[in-house]
Amino acid sequence: MEIRFDNHVVVITGGFTGIGKATARQFLESGARVVACGIERPDQIRSEDNLSKEFDQAEYYELDVTKESEVQAFASYLEEKYGRCDVLFNNAGVLYANILHETPTEQWMRTIDINLNGIYFVSKYLLPLMIKQGRGAIVNTSSMSGLLADHTYSAYNASKGAVANLTRNMALDYAPHGIRVNAVAPGSIRTSMYLGFADRVGGLDVLDYGTGKVYPLGRPGLPEEVANAVLFLSSDKASFITGTNLLVDGGITAHTGAQHEWEEVRTLLQSKGTGG
Ligand SMILES: NC(=O)c1ccc[n+]([C@@H]2O[C@H](COP(=O)([O-])OP(=O)(O)OC[C@H]3O[C@@H](n4cnc5c(N)ncnc54)[C@H](O)[C@@H]3O)[C@@H](O)[C@H]2O)c1
Repeated sequence: MEIRFDNHVVVITGGFTGIGKATARQFLESGARVVACGIERPDQIRSEDNLSKEFDQAEYYELDVTKESEVQAFASYLEEKYGRCDVLFNNAGVLYANILHETPTEQWMRTIDINLNGIYFVSKYLLPLMIKQGRGAIVNTSSMSGLLADHTYSAYNASKGAVANLTRNMALDYAPHGIRVNAVAPGSIRTSMYLGFADRVGGLDVLDYGTGKVYPLGRPGLPEEVANAVLFLSSDKASFITGTNLLVDGGITAHTGAQHEWEEVRTLLQSKGTGG
């Protein structure tokens, strides 16, 4: 099933790294004109990361999704330069681990600001372009943590749960305009976010070992596997799909005992002091 996006303008927030970058690459390979947004400096990303040649065709735009005036300016720029927006992938996000009463206020606010308010701002200012076109597709990045709760991620769980329900609301409100709105809900995906989690559980070997034990498919996911789902949901192949929250989670949320088993694996590995 080849999906093409020739001449489509695709905006991706958090598009320089991880899931966003993998998605940008696939959209480019499918013929789209990609505008990747993020807080990293593009030149910095380029020198740190061995980006493939085809990625040269993407446009980089430095954008903080929490800053309303910046998002407004970006929307004007996009309208002036491209005159349209066919796909919006609201993917920027951060994760902090803390139980609620130990979460610093600044950290709570930042999580909600980026993971939820960022989607509000970017959608608010790009939707008018889609409404004018009478068509468009939006994909928001939720998480398995937006459906079920993980220990300690209080702000993250709250933000991703809100994203899942906001997605349903947007699907209803914009269906009359020909705009479909869906979400992807990744499980553990091997990006910097996953690597950050490794530090908390005793290293990458421990995390990979534990993930392999708990995930029905026996491993963490890859950014490209989330990108596949995003391209599908953004395409006409998903023309009757809106308001859904598509799990890309290796089956972990299908498994009633997964969380319990994961805690056991983590405790066992840490008590033995093994690297997996
Ligand atoms: N990796 C996982 O296991 C996993 C699981 C579930 C959901 N997710 C979600 O996937 C999305 C992408 O995460 P990732 O795993 O690729 O990690 P990542 O850290 O590589 O990507 C996060 C991106 O968010 C961007 N970002 C952060 N703050 C921003 C801001 N203020 N303005 C604009 N951009 C900002 C960063 O530039 C970065 O590109 C996030 O929403 C995350 O919550 C990841």
